[in-house]
Amino acid sequence: MPSELLPNFANSPRTISIYRCNWEKDVMSNDGVNVQRRRFLTVSTTVVGAVGVVGAAVPFIGSWNPSAKAEAAGAPVKVNIANLEPDSMLSVEWRGFPIFIVRRSEQTLEGIRKLTGQVADPESTEYPDQQPAYAQNPIRARDEHPQIMVFKAICTHLGCVPQYWDVNHPTDRDEWYGGFFCPCHGSMFDMAGRVFKGVPAPSNLEVPPYYYESDSVLVIGLDSEGAAA
Ligand code: FES
Repeated sequence: MPSELLPNFANSPRTISIYRCNWEKDVMSNDGVNVQRRRFLTVSTTVVGAVGVVGAAVPFIGSWNPSAKAEAAGAPVKVNIANLEPDSMLSVEWRGFPIFIVRRSEQTLEGIRKLTGQVADPESTEYPDQQPAYAQNPIRARDEHPQIMVFKAICTHLGCVPQYWDVNHPTDRDEWYGGFFCPCHGSMFDMAGRVFKGVPAPSNLEVPPYYYESDSVLVIGLDSEGAAA
């Protein structure tokens, strides 16, 4: 993936990337979108082992290039989430896709539980392949760290990258506890990546395989240590 695309799903204050079916080729800016409320936390992320270094912020772009080939080949990505604050997110790349990692506060988790009747597939049972079995639950997370959500930031409608809208972002919904908005055709997802009813996207956002090497190190691309990639 061209390195110049990376800021679009990282921490750019002005540019929103619009991904259609071929998201590497079809990128455009959307300066009219108000992204001031997004709380994209700039967190340095560390990739350990053979992969190299992955960055969530623009200044680290130069470090992406060596790892891009490894990631494209399917290597797992290790991310340090120690500095990820509640209701903030960071983005990394895995296998050429933007992966969003969100730490949800207890209040946000409570909000997710209140939305059961408003999301299309609250238990993620309709499309079981959209997440590993350990994330097939209402909050779509592993038991060890239920506050952490990991998902592929590709809208399940036509492949655009959703934007993070925090709890204070204005929406036309009666209940809003933060979530993700797709600017292409208006699909909305809650803070568990579950799609709301009545929007174009047919299913919840996809959860990649992941596990925790420690409380602060997340490995994306494997279900457990030693698992086949
Ligand atoms: S691609 Fe997201 S709503 Fe159409």
